[in-house]
Amino acid sequence: MNCKKCELYKYRKNPVPGEGRRDAEIMFVGEAPGAREDETGRPFVGAAGKLLTELLEKIGLKREDVYITNVVKCRPPNNRDPTEEEIRACSPYLMKQIQLIKPKIIVALGRHAGKFLFEQAGLKWRSMKAVHGRVFDVMINGIKVKLMATYHPAAALYYPKLRPALEKDFDVLKKTIHSMHEVKKPKTILDYFDKA
Ligand code: URA
Repeated sequence: MNCKKCELYKYRKNPVPGEGRRDAEIMFVGEAPGAREDETGRPFVGAAGKLLTELLEKIGLKREDVYITNVVKCRPPNNRDPTEEEIRACSPYLMKQIQLIKPKIIVALGRHAGKFLFEQAGLKWRSMKAVHGRVFDVMINGIKVKLMATYHPAAALYYPKLRPALEKDFDVLKKTIHSMHEVKKPKTILDYFDKA
């Protein structure tokens, strides 16, 4: 990846495209790489990544089961927020990832991913407080997905009072995954006789 679509290439050590299963049902989209990610070329391997791994394990998932990426693939200097222009310039990569992986559920981690993905889905972004933990059936890039936003794990490390909400949202995710896998047995004529 020798991308120069925005100025961030000037500062990066490594681009961080994302990692995980090519056929993952669940995709997590964070904000942008931090220092550890820039060093290693892997997403969510620093402190926020450790919390993400814990949250996944608490609902019975492993990092290897899912796909993890960011809206912006190169580290902004001093971990500043990515700009609207950087997000827009980088967006073809995320769109291609969604098109190739075809996840059934996309979880936006933090407001940058939340706002971008809500807008791609034709939804109005209000605030994280207003929408976190709610699951929306949407189309993104021609793919039917369930979209949920939650707080960024780094935000929960900085403001520990957000942690319970983040954990609750992961429980919603667990229920959504289970309901997706529920086998809906078709009713037979005998089911009607049983009730009679
Ligand atoms: N924060 C992010 O948003 N993404 C990472 O990959 C690491 C930290």
